[in-house]
Amino acid sequence: MALAGLFLISFLVVHLGINLLILKDDGRESFNIAAHFMVTNPLIQSMQWVLFGGFILHILLGIVLQIQNWLARPQRYKVEGYSHTSFFSKYMIHTGAIIFAFLIIHLINFFFKAKFGEIPHIMINGESYEDMGILVIEKFKELPYVLMYVVWLLFLGFHLDHAFHSALQSLGLNHSKYTPVAFGLSRALAILIAGGFILIPVLIYIS
Ligand code: HEM
Repeated sequence: MALAGLFLISFLVVHLGINLLILKDDGRESFNIAAHFMVTNPLIQSMQWVLFGGFILHILLGIVLQIQNWLARPQRYKVEGYSHTSFFSKYMIHTGAIIFAFLIIHLINFFFKAKFGEIPHIMINGESYEDMGILVIEKFKELPYVLMYVVWLLFLGFHLDHAFHSALQSLGLNHSKYTPVAFGLSRALAILIAGGFILIPVLIYIS
């Protein structure tokens, strides 16, 4: 669960890096070149199946873990005790389910369109590229989509707030001296990743 989670975080960092290129004022050239590299590079294409496997593994193990937790304590405590963990740690299955539901919509919007739909083409340095950038920009010119993505990405941030340090703990990297640092890193990563992604729909909408 922890390893799959860390792998998904590394995907998010790469995905965010490429998506931020769309904010560059260069007629979507850098973004489209990077997107083209991602869909044509055989190594990255084979990693895509590892990525989908990672998502499925992470989700299935998350559900099993949650069921084990419920079975271990079928009756809730009358008084919820003070716990040394973050607020969102109690809601990982809930935030995870919300992220998954939005992810399906996201894949329909972009991934399935790229794989099976007709994408307009753009000439860059005399070569023809699929213009994935225009697809993203058209979506984020519509307010309902912008709001939907902001809500989704906030839930992603809440989920990530607990994710990184929890993964380190599961891997046994637990130490009274370093655990507070891991908590801080986890929060910083959550803010950077969710905040970075949120910038994209918001800046496209207002530009
Ligand atoms: C503003 C935010 C985002 C934008 C603009 C964006 C854009 C895109 C685009 C254009 C694609 C299609 C790439 C292609 O196949 O050519 C894609 C695919 C994908 N996105 Fe996103 N994405 C965003 C956020 C996210 C988030 C938060 C997640 C995960 C929680 C995510 C997960 C995926 C996955 C799994 C794929 C399919 C694999 C891939 O093509 O790399 N995306 N996204």
